Amino acid sequence: MNISYTESKQLKTKLSEENLGFGKNTTDYMFIMDYNDKQGWYDPKIVPYSPIPLDPSTCVLHYGQGVFEGLKAYKSKDGRILLFRPDENIKRLNRSCDRTCIPALDEADVLEAIKKIVILEKDWIPTAEGTSLYIRPFIIATDPFLGVHPSHTYMFMIILGPVGNYYPTGLNPVKIFVEDEYVRAVAGGMGTSKTMGNYAASLKAQDKAEKAGCIQVLWLDGVHRKYVEEVGSMNVFFKIDGKVITPALSGSILPGITRVSSMAILRNRGYEVEERPLSIDEIINAYEKGLLEESFGTGTAAVISPIGELLYQGKNYVINNSEIGTITSMLYDTLTGIQFGRLEDKFGWTYEVK
Ligand code: COI
Repeated sequence: MNISYTESKQLKTKLSEENLGFGKNTTDYMFIMDYNDKQGWYDPKIVPYSPIPLDPSTCVLHYGQGVFEGLKAYKSKDGRILLFRPDENIKRLNRSCDRTCIPALDEADVLEAIKKIVILEKDWIPTAEGTSLYIRPFIIATDPFLGVHPSHTYMFMIILGPVGNYYPTGLNPVKIFVEDEYVRAVAGGMGTSKTMGNYAASLKAQDKAEKAGCIQVLWLDGVHRKYVEEVGSMNVFFKIDGKVITPALSGSILPGITRVSSMAILRNRGYEVEERPLSIDEIINAYEKGLLEESFGTGTAAVISPIGELLYQGKNYVINNSEIGTITSMLYDTLTGIQFGRLEDKFGWTYEVK
């Protein structure tokens, strides 16, 4: 792939790495590649980061035909630039494309685009503890057309930004609202894909959760309002009576890359991990019997985030005294150790960008 490059005349001032937060800052450049039915994906380019002009009738603005991914670049102590399982993100991007009638991308081209822009922006990779460069590939439908129909033109873009903790509370256990009114996804819908609409569907409940003093929502299944699914921006795990349980991919849960990597680490460390339907009643019963030992969420942005409290039907359930649990911290240390190149990567997950 021949990626053209336009140099920026004015570079941004880099911010202090202390309080980066998540999603507030972007780097100097962005990658763009267009699609039309005649040429396929064409004209890959890296250009200065800037707003993009869109016709007000552009499809994505009305019907949300758009998908995205999230991955991170990490700088190791010895200066290597590492990605974590980028092939998995790229495969999932194409699965999301398939679900939303967006033409597939060539996986090798996407990886090359990510590598090129990460190398160009390598000075933006922060090095303070817990920080990284977030990579956001996304695709939007660009036909200026108000009929409901798959677009004939698309734009694939990659933007980047230095990030710290996703939650303002850092690694402190978070309080989660168990949502039994609104629904995010059902099997057959788009919950397994990373489509823009999934996140729009989550906002009403997110707002409700915040008003109740919680940071995010734990979704229950849309049919029975009984089985736990996932938290707003992360998959979820519970340790009950020595066993680690995560909801099975039911057709409405995002197949998280951190989720599947966490299961592999836990199994490798000898923990029993069950992937199965898990009802909120089972969690509450375990709590009442003193058997709910730990809970945490997993995600690229959220990394491994301890869950210290559930709010369900007006009642608070405090888990592990709202302290980070043993397996949660082991998992955090192991996963970030691999991602930042501090620990040996026996799984072959890290990908060095040269
Ligand atoms: C990620 O973890 O990268 C995500 O995409 C979650 C998010 C919507 C911030």
